[in-house]
Amino acid sequence: MRSVFSLGGGAALLLGGLAGAAPHKQHPGPHYVVSQQRADAVKEVFQVSWDGYYKYAFPHDSLLPVSNRYADDRVLVFRNGWGASAVDAFSTALVMEKWDVVDQILEYIPEIDFDKTTTEVSLFETTIRYLGGLVSAYDLLTGPLNDHINHTSDVKAILTQAKRLADNLKVAFDTPSGVPDNNLFFGPPRKGGSTTNGVATIGTLVLEWTRLSDLTKDEEYAKLAQKGESYLLHPQPALGEPFKGLLGSSVRIADGQFVDGNGGWGGGTDSFYEYLIKMYLYDPTRFGEYRDRWIAAVDSSIKHLVSHPTTRPDLTFLAMWRGKQLRFNSQHLACFSGGNFILGGLTLNEPAYTSFGLALVDGCHDTYISTATGIGPETFAWQDARHPLNATNNPPAPAAQAAFYNASGFWITGADYVLRPEVIESYYYAYRATGDAKYQDWAWAAFRAVNETCRVGSGYSSIRDVNQAPGGGGFLDFQESFWFAEVLKYSYLIQAEDAPWQVKADHTNQFVYNTEAHPIRVAGGREKTRGK
Ligand SMILES: *[C@@H]1O[C@H](CO)[C@@H](O)[C@H](O)[C@H]1NC(C)=O
Ligand SMILES: *[C@@H]1O[C@H](CO)[C@@H](O)[C@H](O)[C@H]1NC(C)=O
Ligand SMILES: *[C@@H]1O[C@H](CO)[C@@H](O)[C@H](O)[C@H]1NC(C)=O
Ligand SMILES: *[C@@H]1O[C@H](CO)[C@@H](O)[C@H](O)[C@H]1NC(C)=O
Repeated sequence: MRSVFSLGGGAALLLGGLAGAAPHKQHPGPHYVVSQQRADAVKEVFQVSWDGYYKYAFPHDSLLPVSNRYADDRVLVFRNGWGASAVDAFSTALVMEKWDVVDQILEYIPEIDFDKTTTEVSLFETTIRYLGGLVSAYDLLTGPLNDHINHTSDVKAILTQAKRLADNLKVAFDTPSGVPDNNLFFGPPRKGGSTTNGVATIGTLVLEWTRLSDLTKDEEYAKLAQKGESYLLHPQPALGEPFKGLLGSSVRIADGQFVDGNGGWGGGTDSFYEYLIKMYLYDPTRFGEYRDRWIAAVDSSIKHLVSHPTTRPDLTFLAMWRGKQLRFNSQHLACFSGGNFILGGLTLNEPAYTSFGLALVDGCHDTYISTATGIGPETFAWQDARHPLNATNNPPAPAAQAAFYNASGFWITGADYVLRPEVIESYYYAYRATGDAKYQDWAWAAFRAVNETCRVGSGYSSIRDVNQAPGGGGFLDFQESFWFAEVLKYSYLIQAEDAPWQVKADHTNQFVYNTEAHPIRVAGGREKTRGK
């Protein structure tokens, strides 16, 4: 059943009195049901993907599953040949308790030479995958999984390597404003000389770098990331904040000033918003200001960005913006927003945020069930009847997709699927918030569709066209490292037994997931709680 979010009642509720919400009121938790068969099937797919990677690509970054070769980088996206898939798979192998794979990765971690790489280094990509993956593994292995490990020196090495990596990366923050340069070179570490940086690449460091400070008792890492972030919490000039809490995309490194007012919940800015509420969940005592900015962004989104397609007014999407003008298109990437609204609703005891998040989850679900493969597209668009219907910023569907738009409420503007997690990720939060088995079924259907369309050769591959079945329009011959970190983890956790690292609906979260789905222990998180 589709739930239609009514702006009237929900928004009124939202705009009143959030500041006084008691953050630790107890709710009776939802009832979760384990589906062991499905959880085991996901673990099997993890093993197939890992075996292909280990045989043909390890310790390089990624498997090319069709040609059984490896890649260390690919068009502007550098992973630096440090074994990105191995580090990204680490926390998934841990929560799946796949000890043979854990041991393979654990053995490898101390061997990574984080002082050297032949290509450019992205501060953001390196932080969310490598630093996040290492810190997460360390948190799991010193916390709920600490009874597995034979030698504490193996675990200590994980943190030593995380610190070594961050020590090489920190030159990025050595700028006049403290806004980091995202592009670096190593050997020795030096800045690439960018003049601007993006909102997501500045604003998606603070969780990993703060955790590293808390673990090493060296405040420097947290200070560096929080200084960069401060320009996003207090955006200047006004151009950079077209709606309260909703920002532009690009910031000048010289002085921290915004250079545009174009944004959205999609790629380039997405995880800045994501981390605002996650920082509050990480430590409510230190990150109250982050919570306030998340509330501002979400209230403005509900007030200004809500959009219903002309042909499917039952669906809810969030528009993008260019200044105060809206653009009615979105992305697979932006589908994390449903889950993030739900997490915020749970964290702040604000059911209106949760219901709005569930409506966004419904919309993204339709982008999956409407296509021939059952997988949603990379980018899509729609027309909004409440705004002038004209060709510039609210155009009709192209003729070839008019019938598709009539039935589905969106048309496809980018048809590829690159093993992205956001839709299944949001199903996961929806399930953990409600206990409604419908979300487990949706995740299972999506997982089966991906298994059927993307499985090829020695693993799983990105595909060209989600609306061509069978075959998905052909393979791009690339198995992204976040296939291990995210798709397989969320597909597994939504079916699996409860555990200390699962998201909780009752304010007992011990972990918060970074944007690469690496669970990071919340500050002051309880010590060993694995009850066996
Ligand atoms: C720990 O010990 C078990 C059994 O003694 C062994 O199978 C496993 O490989 C060891 N793990 C590590 C990380 O050394
Ligand atoms: C299209 O709509 C926008 C408002 O959304 C308006 O500013 C613009 O002038 C319109 N363009 C045309 C060609 O009607
Ligand atoms: C789409 O629906 C409209 C209104 O129901 C109808 O007039 C139009 O012919 C439909 N277009 C296609 C391509 O199905
Ligand atoms: C995944 O695909 C493989 C190969 O086609 C198949 O054997 C397996 O049953 C599939 N798993 C699920 C859960 O559909």
